Amino acid sequence: MIYAKVIGTGSYLPGAPITNDDLVARGIDTSDAWIVERTGIRARHFAAESELTSDLALQASRRAIEAAGVDVASIDLIIVATSTPDYVFPSTASLLQDKLGIRNGGAAFDVQAVCSGFVFALATAEKFIGSGACKRALVVGAEVFSRILDWNDRGTCVLFGDGAGAVVLDASETPGILSSVLHTDGQYSKILSVPGQVSCGKVVGSPFLQMDGQAVFKFAVKVLGDVAVEAAGIAGISTGEIDWVIPHQANIRILQATARRLDLPIEKMVVTVGQHGNTSAASVPMAFDVAMRDGRIRAGQNVLLEGVGGGFTWGAVLLKA
Ligand code: COA
Repeated sequence: MIYAKVIGTGSYLPGAPITNDDLVARGIDTSDAWIVERTGIRARHFAAESELTSDLALQASRRAIEAAGVDVASIDLIIVATSTPDYVFPSTASLLQDKLGIRNGGAAFDVQAVCSGFVFALATAEKFIGSGACKRALVVGAEVFSRILDWNDRGTCVLFGDGAGAVVLDASETPGILSSVLHTDGQYSKILSVPGQVSCGKVVGSPFLQMDGQAVFKFAVKVLGDVAVEAAGIAGISTGEIDWVIPHQANIRILQATARRLDLPIEKMVVTVGQHGNTSAASVPMAFDVAMRDGRIRAGQNVLLEGVGGGFTWGAVLLKA
């Protein structure tokens, strides 16, 4: 059996932290107390005007490749999860492949599953490695959500930020990814969307994020609980045997409610949302990298990565570190 094993992680947050008080100073009708109480978010980062998603992805990828200690030319698959690509096409993954200087003819493509995007991309890469179709994959979540926020909508603009996270995944004989589960239910597409398109030189519809916060909240807590149980079941372990849960970092109250639903001490959850807000597809690999680098996650431990987001999409990957 060929496993797909994570051999290096990396992350990148652009610029300096923008605090809740900084948002108030920019004229948003909100307060630090409201944002912290409802979301746990204390700061977020915004990419510079000249920085593209592929630039953020490049920084995170370089760190992951360095941590893995591999030659960049040996990467034969790149998958970038993003809902804020540099262009309509080519894919951000193609642009990243070029920026990394990879010229080996390996495949590179984007996956779009919003805040579940990284989990979808990781599960996809695992299938390529498990089938023998490729040997070493770079899987990235990268976003510039600051560019799709309506700054007149205080219910959404305070929640999101920019960032990137990446992992290098290798073919291995020793256990890596143990199970992966992906789900979509398109009938809920309207509760979280950017319902716009570029057509004939114009934006048609809205280019800004729209959300029914309470509907998203309820949905997220339910499916993050359910999918963790499902992924553990497929791997043949109980949820009690999971050492670390790394959920999509949307909101501290969603994470606390998910931990309660799973009967899991919150200390077993990696929580970074306070430092960067919701960075969509970037949030899971960024939190994964933080917990790898600070030594919380040790070799051989069971780690569950899980995401939920627009679509609606949700999924989980259970792996042995
Ligand atoms: N600052 C201050 N007040 C705000 C505010 C802000 N940034 N945003 C909204 N409010 C106000 C509203 O205007 C409303 O005021 P009113 O009672 O006078 O009408 C009040 O706060 C409550 O608004 P509501 O939208 O009902 O708040 P809520 O308790 O549902 O919290 C969220 C809003 C967005 C924090 C919450 O619904 C949530 O966390 N949802 C999940 C969002 C998420 O994680 N999405 C991504 C998933 S991938």
